[in-house]
Amino acid sequence: MVSRVIPVDSFDLVIFGGTGDLARRKILPGLFHRFCAGQMPDTSCIIGAARADMDDVAYRTLIGEALDEFAPESRAMPDDVAGFLDRLSYVRVDATGDAGWSHLAKKVRKDVVQAFYFSVGPSLFGPLAERLHAHAIATSQSRIVIEKPFGRDLQSARALNATLAEHFTEEQIYRIDHYLGKETVQNLMAVRFGNVLFEPLWNAQYIDHVQITVAETVGVAGRGAYYDKSGAMRDMVQNHLMQLLCLIAMEPPSFFEPNAVRDEKLKVIRALDPVAADQVVRGQYKATRNTPSYLEAAENPDSLTESYIALKVHISNWRWKGTPFYLRTGKRLKSRVSEIVVHFKETPHSIFGDEARSAANALVIRLQPDEGIELSVTIKEPGPGGMRLVNVPLDMTFAEALGPDGENVPDAYERLIMDVIRGNQTLFMRGDEVEAAWAWTDPIIEMWTTAGKKPIQYDSGSTGPEEAMILLHRDGRRWREIET
Ligand code: BG6
Repeated sequence: MVSRVIPVDSFDLVIFGGTGDLARRKILPGLFHRFCAGQMPDTSCIIGAARADMDDVAYRTLIGEALDEFAPESRAMPDDVAGFLDRLSYVRVDATGDAGWSHLAKKVRKDVVQAFYFSVGPSLFGPLAERLHAHAIATSQSRIVIEKPFGRDLQSARALNATLAEHFTEEQIYRIDHYLGKETVQNLMAVRFGNVLFEPLWNAQYIDHVQITVAETVGVAGRGAYYDKSGAMRDMVQNHLMQLLCLIAMEPPSFFEPNAVRDEKLKVIRALDPVAADQVVRGQYKATRNTPSYLEAAENPDSLTESYIALKVHISNWRWKGTPFYLRTGKRLKSRVSEIVVHFKETPHSIFGDEARSAANALVIRLQPDEGIELSVTIKEPGPGGMRLVNVPLDMTFAEALGPDGENVPDAYERLIMDVIRGNQTLFMRGDEVEAAWAWTDPIIEMWTTAGKKPIQYDSGSTGPEEAMILLHRDGRRWREIET
């Protein structure tokens, strides 16, 4: 299969926080891959902007080292690396002062696509937006890219939206949720809306329940200060898991077009029921002989922040009334797995008798690892001996089904950055969507904060607290095993 790479228009991309962790780990390696794929026109420029005092040469060295570490395949591609680094330059700017801005103004061209990536803390969004205008750098066509976390509650998200709206229109603002850039997440829409098979069954009449799991093996060491103020609910559920839930639950948009898709997602968020205390399980991981506990990693022995959360969620609309969505995410779990499982109902009647029944159909959408989609179907067990039924998977692992191209799926960031340059907001969150997500999340967080409830301790390397298993057991269901 030949992949089609469509070059984007020539651009100037300014990365504020250009020396930071995200820039080195994700943004620049992603751009390097797009450069190698031939997607970046020769006249495009990437400008790192940060507080550090360095020149273009030092910046190229820094990013060369980042490629070596985070895009190790680049080691065997010295010409590509040199060609890519040639596109880079650096400007020292003071986000809250005047230094560097006139220099930046001279560098950024007005006759190409202009994008400004705010890879900095939210407190700098306002000052950066203000200075881009005060120094006449941004135009009415410029795009700004904003990283999560977008606020920490409804009030702060509203304030951020208002600050950005003073200088940019909604069409210019690209709020990143990198889960929307993952290949399988988009495939989820292709499967739902590109086939006639699923949509007629995609409702409470045929779907028993849905499970969304994002399990990680990493802990929070190294970013404990940020994480401890956030927790799994703010860090993962309010954004990534809710976006996945929206894509599963939304009505078919009329077009695959930014506002059509985002309108439908917003309706789902607004239809979410409040969550009661007995529909939530929160946990904190314990230490092992070699790894610190959450409390040690967060350097806060009294922390009440959760590194694990499981929730049972209901959507009050015609399509989903009565079908629960179970969400769970956590750190230091048994395996790194992100997947969505759509559990269909059993057949209304078994013509083979009750003892011949096998499990109901399930559609598993695997985001990572081994991206792919698997549908379990019931067939007859081969051989004589009567009608015995078994469940077998119809498996479409992308790497197998699509050949080498399936293995080389672009990373979420590189896809999303190219969408910014193309001016396509479909996979970015709109301001009202983010606010609606906080409006649902805030009372849940408040519930346990007011109660001063302690998270349950769970073993590192496990599947999470036992209570999360009980959350499903009491409904006569169980989580799909977390396994790679
Ligand atoms: C980030 C969270 O948004 O997503 C991290 O802040 C988390 O805590 C990460 O580890 C997970 O992303 P991925 O792509 O590795 O599943």
